Amino acid sequence: MTKNIAILGSTGSIGKNALRVIQALGQDYRVTAISANSNVDLLADQTKNFQPELICLANPENYNSLKEKLADFKGKILTGPKSLIDIATLDKVDIVITAVVGAAGLPAVLEAAKKGKTLAIANKEPFVIAGEMLTKTAKQNNAAILPVDSEHSAIFQCLQAGNINEVNKIILTASGGPFRKFSPDQIENVTLKQALEHPTWNMGPKITIDSATMMNKALEIIEAVWLFGTQPEKISVLIHPESIVHSMVEFIDGSVVAQMGTPDMTLPIQYALTYPKRAKGITNRLKLDELGTLNFEKPNLETFRAIKLGFQVAKKGGSLPVVFNAANEQAVEQFLAGRIGFASIIRIIEHCLEKHNSVSCVSLEQLFDIDTWARAQVLDFVSQKT
Ligand SMILES: NC(=O)c1ccc[n+]([C@@H]2O[C@H](COP(=O)([O-])OP(=O)(O)OC[C@H]3O[C@@H](n4cnc5c(N)ncnc54)[C@H](OP(=O)(O)O)[C@@H]3O)[C@@H](O)[C@H]2O)c1
Repeated sequence: MTKNIAILGSTGSIGKNALRVIQALGQDYRVTAISANSNVDLLADQTKNFQPELICLANPENYNSLKEKLADFKGKILTGPKSLIDIATLDKVDIVITAVVGAAGLPAVLEAAKKGKTLAIANKEPFVIAGEMLTKTAKQNNAAILPVDSEHSAIFQCLQAGNINEVNKIILTASGGPFRKFSPDQIENVTLKQALEHPTWNMGPKITIDSATMMNKALEIIEAVWLFGTQPEKISVLIHPESIVHSMVEFIDGSVVAQMGTPDMTLPIQYALTYPKRAKGITNRLKLDELGTLNFEKPNLETFRAIKLGFQVAKKGGSLPVVFNAANEQAVEQFLAGRIGFASIIRIIEHCLEKHNSVSCVSLEQLFDIDTWARAQVLDFVSQKT
C-alpha cells in the first residue's frame, strides 16, 4: 500500500535529500505534504514537481508571492507557524519526516505523535528539550519513532543484533569537525567561513556550526538517551574523522557491532522510510579498499567543552536541556550574524546553564517559557559584551 509522507522542512538539506529518496523509491511512497519557513522559490518548485495535497509556509511574510507562483496549484496552501501542525496531523499522512531546524518543530512533532503517525526524526532539538514528553506521547499513541540522524540510525541498526538490556556501551562516533586538531587558543580565532566548511558532511548552517563546536554531539548524547531509553553513563563519544562508521554498539559479551556507509544522509532517511525492510538505495557504495584506513581517537575535552556539558546536562536533566538547546540556538544565530566570535558560543551556553535554576518541566508552555528566558539571557550577554 502507498505510504503518504509529510516533510516538515522540505527545503532544507534533509528535506531535499528526503525528496530525492522518495522519488527513487517509486510509487509505493508519495509526497503528500511539504513545508518551508521562507524559501518560497524552492517550495513552489517542489510543489510543481511532487504535486502534494497540502503545503505550508511557516513565515507568512512571502505568502502572497507563493500564492502567485502557484496560481494553478489545486491543493491547499497554509501559512503561519501553526500550519506545521496541520501538515503533521493530516489524516492521510502515514509518516512524518521532521526536518525543521531547531525547537520550532516541537509542537508539530508532538501533535503528530498524538495522532499515532510514524515519526522519522531528523530534528534532534525536540528530543533534547522534550525527550520525556515526546517518548511518552508516542508510546501512549502507538506512534513509532524512527531515527534519521545518521548516528542514531546506525545505533538503531546495530541494535537489531541484540536488545537494549544486552548493551554495555553505545559508541557515538563524531567526525570532530573542521577544528578537531585545534587547541583552545586556536579556537578563539576561528572565522565564520572556516566554521561553515565541514570536512565530511554537507548540511544546513545551524548543524554545521553545531558540528564545529561539537554541540551537535552533545545534543546527540541527549537524543540517544531518550531514543534508546538508556543512561548517559552507557554512552561514549569517539572521534572518527572519515565519517564511515556512523556509530557502534558494544554488547555485554564484548561483541561490537558497527554500521558503516558513505557520509550521505539518503541512507538513514531511506531506512526510516522502508523499515523494517530495506530497498535499493541511491547512496554511493562504500569502497573500503579505496579508503584503506579508518582512524579513531578520543575527543579533546579541553577544546570541545560542549561534550562535557552534554553529558552533565543529560545526567542532571530537568529543564537544563531546554536551556542548553535554546542558548545554543540563539548563540549560533548570533555567530552566523557576525555578532559574536566562535568561542563565545560555548561561553554563552555555560553562562546560561549557570544562571538557570533547573525545574522539572511538565507542560509545553512551561518549556517554551524557559526557552524564551534562555534566549533572552543570550541577547543580554551579547549586548553587554559588544
Ligand atoms: N543536514 C543534515 O545532514 C542533518 C543530519 C542529521 C540531523 N539533522 C537535523 O535535521 C534538522 C534539519 O537540518 P538541516 O541541515 O536540513 O537544516 P536546514 O538545511 O537549515 O533546513 C531547515 C528546514 O527547516 C525550515 N525552517 C527553518 N526554520 C523554521 C521555522 N521557524 N519554522 C518552520 N520551518 C523552519 C527551513 O525552511 P527555509 O528553507 O524556508 O528556511 C528548512 O526547510 C536539524 O534539526 C538538524 O540537526 C540534519
